[in-house]
Amino acid sequence: MNGKDRIDIVKKQKLILKKDIEGEKILDIGGGGEGVIGGLYGKRVTAIDKRQDELDAAAEGPVKMIMDASDLKFEDKCFDVATSFFTMMFIDKDEHKKVFNEIYRVIKSGSSFVLWDAVIPKDDDGKKDIFIIELEIDTPNGLIETSYGVMKKNNEQDLKYFKRLGKKAGFKIESEEQYDKIFKIVFKKS
Ligand SMILES: C[S@@+](CC[C@H](N)C(=O)[O-])C[C@H]1O[C@@H](n2cnc3c(N)ncnc32)[C@H](O)[C@@H]1O
Repeated sequence: MNGKDRIDIVKKQKLILKKDIEGEKILDIGGGGEGVIGGLYGKRVTAIDKRQDELDAAAEGPVKMIMDASDLKFEDKCFDVATSFFTMMFIDKDEHKKVFNEIYRVIKSGSSFVLWDAVIPKDDDGKKDIFIIELEIDTPNGLIETSYGVMKKNNEQDLKYFKRLGKKAGFKIESEEQYDKIFKIVFKKS
């Protein structure tokens, strides 16, 4: 099988990203790469990522720290809000529960965790085992065209899956939106 046949590609998904997050101290999970949240909110953001090269690739502005999302080196309740912008799809499903628990722990009571991510279908026959999603992100700073790709393995996921995960960690669901193959969930810690 040639490489192209292995790719399950979701063509251009359009997302309007407003600059509407309140709260001074924002923790961005997996904030390397395109570093979209750091690019938008600058110094208000602490971007953590497990890879130095990904942090280096992201724009200057946020505080950048090498860290694993499943083991955050922060004290309890020290952030006003947390974000994860197409990062969960890069984290193994086995780790998701720990990551959600850690995010819950480090944000203040009454704070939100804002998650944007992709619907990844089940890898039925193992043939299309590479998943790529193309995004066109309309931000107040301009248009960002990018794509994110992962191996499917057992990484199927959707909005319902993350809602369940959030509730198990203790969050309430404040809002949920799905636009075609991408979604946004705002979780609230009471
Ligand atoms: C490609 S980026 C996704 C989008 C990114 N948030 C942006 O704005 O472009 C995903 C990032 O998550 C990071 N990552 C994956 N697993 C992680 C983990 N367990 N802890 C911290 N970062 C992780 C990867 O190194 C990668 O930089």
